[in-house]
Amino acid sequence: MTKTDEVAPAVAERLAFAEALTRRAGTAALRHFRDREALVVESKGLQDVVSRADREVEDLIRGALAERFPGDGFLGEESGGSGDFGQGAVWVVDPIDGTQCFLAGLPTWCVSVGLMVDGRIAAGVIVDPCADECFSGAVGKDGTGGGAFCNGRPIAPAGVADFRNGLTEVGVSFRIPRDPTVGFIDRLLEAGGIYHRSGSGALGLAHVAAGRYVAYIEGHMNAWDSFAGAALVRAAGGWVNDLTSNDGVTRGAVVMASGRRLAPALHAMAEAAGYPLTPGDRP
Ligand code: IPD
Ligand code: CA
Repeated sequence: MTKTDEVAPAVAERLAFAEALTRRAGTAALRHFRDREALVVESKGLQDVVSRADREVEDLIRGALAERFPGDGFLGEESGGSGDFGQGAVWVVDPIDGTQCFLAGLPTWCVSVGLMVDGRIAAGVIVDPCADECFSGAVGKDGTGGGAFCNGRPIAPAGVADFRNGLTEVGVSFRIPRDPTVGFIDRLLEAGGIYHRSGSGALGLAHVAAGRYVAYIEGHMNAWDSFAGAALVRAAGGWVNDLTSNDGVTRGAVVMASGRRLAPALHAMAEAAGYPLTPGDRP
């Protein structure tokens, strides 16, 4: 769904297709989840696992997109991608985000399908099959707004200006040193906030868009983990730092997201904790 007057027609058309496709992919993933004892788990690195479920779901999404939009680019967590990610429409896909949770039998995982247009994050769909929720949204032509929805109902980030009385999801990545994460949690508690970790960064960002978390932060996320969720937060009217400069599409980035009123405090706390921020990360 989109507010059609604010979103480019090519984006709106792709978002409508992606909503139906991501729901279909979520159903396929849920079948594997219910029969997960049958899956063989492989390790890709420290705290990084994969199974046939991830590959099959990515193949389903990749194949359907290639058939419907043959000229579009693709970047997926399991099958990668190539080409010029700064030109035209490029899909950025994580077939199962929260794979550890998925394989452990926890419900906090999702299917994440993001869309970039000419190097900018343009739209996203995140399906949470266990909760039967589909988040979707497209960023407006001016880079904000555009409208975000959960199962067709409009969503918005929390309007709070401080961390008190709200949940902040703090993601952890072994791809960067742990000191900033530890320092951030310390400062968050000092400010009267509380940390939470669901185990799916993509779903965490969708929950910021829906106002369930007041903020999300992680020291490093790859594009397939973060772009769909970032689109949702921006489409819903919230703030996300710059994820695409400095080769963010291929190298990943620090990710911060919140409502607009909390953004200065989130950025200041992240800076004090020592996350590797750039000037472009300022709200
Ligand atoms: C991971 C999850 C996790 C986040 C990591 C991601 P995966 O993705 O989103 O919450 O902290 O940075 O790599 O491996 O479950 O697809
Ligand atoms: Ca992921």
